[in-house]
Amino acid sequence: MTIISTPGELKNYLKDKNQSIGFVPTMGALHEGHISLIKKAKSENELLVVSIFLNPTQFLKGEDLDKYPKKDEADKKICELSGVDVLFFPQAKDMYGTDEVSLQAPHVRGYVLEGASRPSHFNGVLTVVMKLLNIVSPTNAYFGKKDAQQLNLISLMVKQLFMSVNIVGVDTVRQSDGLALSSRNVYLNEVQRKEALKIPSSLHLASRMVSRNILESKLIIESMREVLEPLEVAYVEILNREFELAKYVEIGNAIIIVEAKVGSTRLLDNIWL
Ligand code: PAJ
Repeated sequence: MTIISTPGELKNYLKDKNQSIGFVPTMGALHEGHISLIKKAKSENELLVVSIFLNPTQFLKGEDLDKYPKKDEADKKICELSGVDVLFFPQAKDMYGTDEVSLQAPHVRGYVLEGASRPSHFNGVLTVVMKLLNIVSPTNAYFGKKDAQQLNLISLMVKQLFMSVNIVGVDTVRQSDGLALSSRNVYLNEVQRKEALKIPSSLHLASRMVSRNILESKLIIESMREVLEPLEVAYVEILNREFELAKYVEIGNAIIIVEAKVGSTRLLDNIWL
């Protein structure tokens, strides 16, 4: 595995490679969710590039940038063992200058749901993903469906800015009790870890209701909110795959999405039906 830390070196390394390139961007503290993206990218491309970059511009003031888990050595080992060809490991100064050009998330889809609790978060995500895609020029880039709004906005950016990368969405990996894997799960103590299970339980209830042909969003959301009590719920919504609110679940075109706080940890989860 080759480790590269500057955009210039990476562009130079990749420029004569006549191979399909799979790319998995991450912020590190790698877990099985990241590994499933890496494995899928490995199986579908000739050359595999992973980036680890804790992107400061997607954190708002007062968020967890300073305490975000860092596991550099373990992450390198995981990448090596997963067959990563090139690990891109830049510093903030390699990625950003001063007085920067930056992207603006769309005013509707970028400022609802997670964008409402974290205004400007998606500007930072889109800007860094654009930079990373421009450095790597991958054939395919892989993102988790767990961050459904992020995946939707990145797909929209690629379409609207006429970029040629193919964006691949990958299913959410969960622990055996149903909790979606997240780098932020390490913030949970034992009691909070149990409380957090209300999130996948609420989604499980929603999918049971849909399988009993209860399709009205309002009814499903009300029942989910009961399961989520007493967590502080930021939102529970039912959307179509275009990320528009849906009054009824349309099977094959629905995303049921939750964000709730457990202690001070924000957890996101969703199911695609
Ligand atoms: P990060 O949170 O490190 O996640 C990297 C990728 O792993 C994202 O595409 C995310 O959706 C995916 N992922 C996280 N948990 C997952 C799970 N349980 N199952 C499947 N995939 C999962 O998302 C980011 O980093 C950043 O915003 C980034 C896109 C790298 C831009 O900075």
